[in-house]
Amino acid sequence: DPQVSGCPFSAASGDVRPLHGRTNKDWWPDAVQVDILRQNGGSVDPQGDDFDYAEAFNAIDYTALKADLTALMTDDQPWWPADYGHYGPFFIRMAWHAAGTYRTGDGRGGSSSGQQRFAPLNSWPDNGNLDKARRLLWPVKQKYGKHISWADLFILAGNVAIESMGGPVFGFGGGRKDVFEPETVYWGTEELWVDTGAETRINPESGLELEGPLAAIQMGLIYVNPEGPGGNPDPLLSARDMRETFARMAMNDEETVALTAGGHAFGKAHGAKPADSFGGSPESEALALQGFGWLTDAEEIEKGHITTSGIEGSWSNTPTTWNGNYFRLLMDYEYELVHSPAGAQQWQPIDQKEEDMAPDARDPSKKVPTMMTTADMALKMDPEYRKISERFRNDQAALDDAFARAWFKLCHRDMGPKVRYQGPEVPEETLIWMDPVPEGSTPSDSAVSDFKAKALDSGLSVAELVKAAWASASTYRNSDHRGGANGARVRLAPQNGWAANDPEELGKVLSTLDGIRGDLSMADAIVLAGAAAIEKAASDAGSSVSINVTTGRGDATDEHTDAESFEPMEPFADGFRNYLKTKASVKTEELLVDKAHLLGLSMPEMTALVGGMRALGAVAGNTGHGVLTDRAGQLTNDFFVNLLDMGTKWEVVDGSGDEEFVGRDRASGTEKYRATRTDLVFGSNSQLRAQAEVFAESGNEQLFLDTFVSAWTKVMDADRFDLG
Ligand code: HEM
Repeated sequence: DPQVSGCPFSAASGDVRPLHGRTNKDWWPDAVQVDILRQNGGSVDPQGDDFDYAEAFNAIDYTALKADLTALMTDDQPWWPADYGHYGPFFIRMAWHAAGTYRTGDGRGGSSSGQQRFAPLNSWPDNGNLDKARRLLWPVKQKYGKHISWADLFILAGNVAIESMGGPVFGFGGGRKDVFEPETVYWGTEELWVDTGAETRINPESGLELEGPLAAIQMGLIYVNPEGPGGNPDPLLSARDMRETFARMAMNDEETVALTAGGHAFGKAHGAKPADSFGGSPESEALALQGFGWLTDAEEIEKGHITTSGIEGSWSNTPTTWNGNYFRLLMDYEYELVHSPAGAQQWQPIDQKEEDMAPDARDPSKKVPTMMTTADMALKMDPEYRKISERFRNDQAALDDAFARAWFKLCHRDMGPKVRYQGPEVPEETLIWMDPVPEGSTPSDSAVSDFKAKALDSGLSVAELVKAAWASASTYRNSDHRGGANGARVRLAPQNGWAANDPEELGKVLSTLDGIRGDLSMADAIVLAGAAAIEKAASDAGSSVSINVTTGRGDATDEHTDAESFEPMEPFADGFRNYLKTKASVKTEELLVDKAHLLGLSMPEMTALVGGMRALGAVAGNTGHGVLTDRAGQLTNDFFVNLLDMGTKWEVVDGSGDEEFVGRDRASGTEKYRATRTDLVFGSNSQLRAQAEVFAESGNEQLFLDTFVSAWTKVMDADRFDLG
C-alpha cells in the first residue's frame, strides 16, 4: 500500500503561512458578509439546535425517495438537458466530488456536511456545472425536507444513479447532518485556481512534496489534473500524482483503479467550446443568475455545446450502462494524443471500429469517437496500475466487487464508526476502515471506585495518569469522527509508539493499569484513572471536583485495527501537552487552535484545558514547559495567574527558532519559568488573553474548575456514539 509522505503542515519553503491559507474572504472580498450575525449568538442552523437528524432520516419513506430519485434520472429539464437522456453519470460525478475532498491528514473535507453547497467548493473549477446537478435535485430535497439532508442526498443520488444504470452498490448509510455555513478548511495558498503556468504541488525535481494535510495536486482540483501534471500529458507522471493523492483519500492502488475506471464507465466529459465562452463561477455571478455559474446561452446548452473540464467525449461506447467496455476500450486499443474542440489534450483510440464508437450525447443516431484522459491512460501505462487493469479487463465480477466496495468507502470514509450509519441499506459486513470496537460492558459502581483507589495507590503520578488518558482520547477528530478513547487503541501500534505519547512512560502506565483493572476494559480503565488523578489533584489543592465517567468502552485488538490508516493521525503538534515534533509552516499556536477545533472545543474550553493540564504537569517529554506553578500536580488556575503577572518578563530563547521562552523575575532577573509559543499566546493574543484573565480572576476559581472538568469530559466522551 502507498505510504503518505510528509508531515502535516510542513512546507518545503520554510515560509510561515496562515493556518487557513486562502479563504473565501480572499477569493470573494465583495461577498455579503452574513456571518456578522453570528455575533448576536444563536446557531446558523435554521432547524434549531435540538433537531435530531438521525431520527428525522429514520422516519422517511425510503423506498419512495429512491423511486423519486430513479425517476429524476431520466426526467429531462430544458434548462439543462441530460446527456444520453440520463442524468445518472452527472450525479455520480457530483457525489464523487462531494466525497472526494476528504483527506486523511486532518479528516476534513468529504461528504458528511454538504459543503458542496458553499464556497469555495461550489465554485472550484473541478466542480464546474455541478451547480446544475444540485439544482436538479431540489424538487426531491424540497419534497422530503428535513428527512433527508443535502449531504445524504448527494451520496444517495450517486448510489441510485449507479443502480439505475445496472452498476453494483454495496450499501448506503445515512446520517450526514447538513451545516449551514462554509467550513473553514485549509485548501492551499495558491492565488490562482488550477494555474497551468505554475509548478504543481508535487515535483521531485525541485524536491517539492505535497504538503500535509492537502490531498489535491493543485488548488481547485479534487485530486489530479485530468490532462496530466500541470497540463503535461504524461500518463506515468499522472500515475505518480494519482498514487500520492488517492492515498490521502485512504485509497490503495486497487481501489484507485476500480474507482476511476468504474466512474468513467459512465457519462462523458464536456469540452465543446473554448472555456472563455462561459460565465464565471456561482459565487461570483450576477444576482439574477440565482446561484448558477459557468453559463452560456440556452440554445448552445440545448445542443450540448458545453464546456466543463474542456475534455470532450465519453470513455465507453455504452455510457449509461454498467459493463466492461471501459477496460476493453482502454486495454485493447492503441491511443494517440489529440486536442478537444476546447483545446484540451486527450487520448483517442487509433482506428476505432464504428461499433466501438459512442452515441452523440444529444443525437443517438450519430456516432463519435470515445476518448481517455491522461489520468485514464495512467491506469494502462503505469506498471502497477496496469496489472490491476488487466485483471479487471478479464474479470468483470472482480471489478464489480472492487468498485462497489471502493465507492462505499469513498462515500462513507468520513462518517466514523458504523453506529453512526442510519437507514435500511447499512451493510451487514463491518469493514476494517470503520475502526470497529468490540462492545464493552458496564462495570459496577464498586468496581469503579475500587479501581480508582488502586490507580491512585499504584505509584503512578497525577501527570502520568492524565497524560495517558489524554493520549488515548485526544486522537478524536470531529472532522471524520475517527480516533478517541473507545477501543483503547493507544496501547496498539502505531499509537503506542508516537513520540507525543512519551512511549516509555505510556508503556509503564498501561501495564500498571492492566495489572489492577480486574474486569474493566483497558479503555475504561485509562479514562477512569485520568479522572481519579484529576479529582486527587483538585483535592490536593484544597478544592473538590467530581468527574462523571461514562463507562462501557470496549477494547480493540490489532485484528480490529488497520494500523497504517492511523499513521496520518499522529500528532505533529499538540498544544494541550505542549508538544511539537517539528517546526511547522504555520505558527505553533495556530496548531493548538486547529487541534481544539478538531476536538470540537470552544474557546473557553480550550483555554481551561491548556491551563489545567499545565498545572497538572501533563506536558509531553516532561520538559516543564508552561508549568507556571510551584505546586505542579495540583489542579489550580496558577497557569493563568502567573502568566498574567507583570512580575515576570518573557524573552525568546536564542536558537530556539522562536519556539522557547524564558520568564525571569523582572526585578532580580532570576529565571522562573520556561514556556512555548502555545503558552505565551494566552497572554499575547488579545482574545485569548481575555479568556485567560477570566480564569485568573479571584472568585472565578470554581468557574475555572467547572470549565476544565466539562471540557475534559467532552474530550473523553467525544467518540461515544454507542451511547446514542
Ligand atoms: C467526468 C476526471 C475520477 C466519475 C470526469 C471528467 C473529467 C474527469 C475531466 C469530465 C468532466 C466534464 O467535463 O464534464 C477524473 C480524474 C479522476 C477521476 C482525473 C481521477 C484520477 C473519478 C472517480 C469517479 C468519477 C473516482 C467516480 C467513482 C466520473 C463521472 C463522470 C466524470 C461519472 C461523468 C460526468 C458526466 O457525464 O457528466 N472525470 N475523474 N471520476 N467522472 Fe471522473
